[in-house]
Amino acid sequence: MAEESQKWVLMVTAQTPTNIAVIKYWGKRDETLILPVNDSISVTLDPEHLCTTTTVSVSPAFDQDRMWLNGKEISLSGGRFQSCLREIRSRATDVHDKEKGIKITKKDWEKLNVHIASYNNFPTAAGLASSAAGFACLVFALSKLMNANEDHSQLSAIARRGSGSACRSLYGGFVKWIMGKDEKGTDSLAVQLADEKHWDELVIVIAVVSSQQKETSSTTGMRDTVETSLLLQHRAKEVVPKRILKMEEAIKNRDFASFAQLACTDSNQFHAVCLDTCPPIFYMNDTSHRQASFLNLIISLVEKWNRAAGTPQVAYTFDAGPNAVLIARNRETAALLVQKLLFCFPPKSDADLNSFVLGDKSILKDAG
Ligand code: ADP
Ligand code: DP6
Ligand code: CO
Repeated sequence: MAEESQKWVLMVTAQTPTNIAVIKYWGKRDETLILPVNDSISVTLDPEHLCTTTTVSVSPAFDQDRMWLNGKEISLSGGRFQSCLREIRSRATDVHDKEKGIKITKKDWEKLNVHIASYNNFPTAAGLASSAAGFACLVFALSKLMNANEDHSQLSAIARRGSGSACRSLYGGFVKWIMGKDEKGTDSLAVQLADEKHWDELVIVIAVVSSQQKETSSTTGMRDTVETSLLLQHRAKEVVPKRILKMEEAIKNRDFASFAQLACTDSNQFHAVCLDTCPPIFYMNDTSHRQASFLNLIISLVEKWNRAAGTPQVAYTFDAGPNAVLIARNRETAALLVQKLLFCFPPKSDADLNSFVLGDKSILKDAG
């Protein structure tokens, strides 16, 4: 280690986008290792929109590992943070920063503490997969800081230990989380099905109806579902395996009709499984009455539109929270969709409408 020990700080900043599942992960067969009951498939958003930015730093002056999330210190004592830190530390290799005259050996990493500062540029714990972007970014940033030479698939398996959905955010484009067979979890990791250029006419519009933290976290919700829902057993064994194959085909062939049909039905079945849980979980209604009707109206708007057009124009999917993710088949449809949304749900004031379109992804905020 550099001699003038207390003075130096080495840091790395990384940015990771969130991902939205179109075939959902819901239910674990192993809580500690975070092993799922079924495969899942997601789309990773553009990095400049919904993303996490995390800075990890190391210095001999740090006397313990600490973390700040959105400016507030949080505890790192939970098993998930500890698993990610332990897994990356065990893979740390020598780091030599010639400019700063810092040399850290593999052995030094065992004694050094890290400070982590992370920001989400979208609502945290509101059903927009903050845990996915958050843990993927944390693992990626730590791996760079500690020079852990693992490939993305190995890093995805480590991010999985932070939050299941995080394993899919290590890749752009369309990503599959393979549930794996090994009970130690070595083969439960993410693979890229197609990169971000493969189907780039798709436009994702996110209607942020509520930024409020959801009442039931994904972790607690899916634990209750595994314990009480028979429908989940049927979903995981009979329904999802077939859907995964069909969704892979739809993505490969850029077949929007199949893609939309599969994404919408899978979202609906996921929420049905939540209702089949004891006590039932109401993610789409976990908000004000006005906002809940907004979500129901979005579904009928899309269903009617698709039927009238004769072929699907827009797909919807709702995660564990009251926010709508809409996927339009192309830019023209997306523009029409935003128009329809604004017509049906006019914003109460200019401040209410914080709508912007950047690159090929649109985000409509605070529609409720
Ligand atoms: P979401 O739908 O937003 O993923 P979850 O209930 O799955 O909601 O997860 C929320 C939890 O994820 C937070 O309470 C926090 O522990 C973790 N999390 C969110 N953002 C970050 C981040 N940037 N870095 C690390 N962990 C994060
Ligand atoms: C509905 O990955 O947040 O978004 O593994 O317990 O952290 P933990 O849960 P999490 O669950 C995500 C559930 C979902 C569907 C999905 O992303 O596949
Ligand atoms: Co989550």
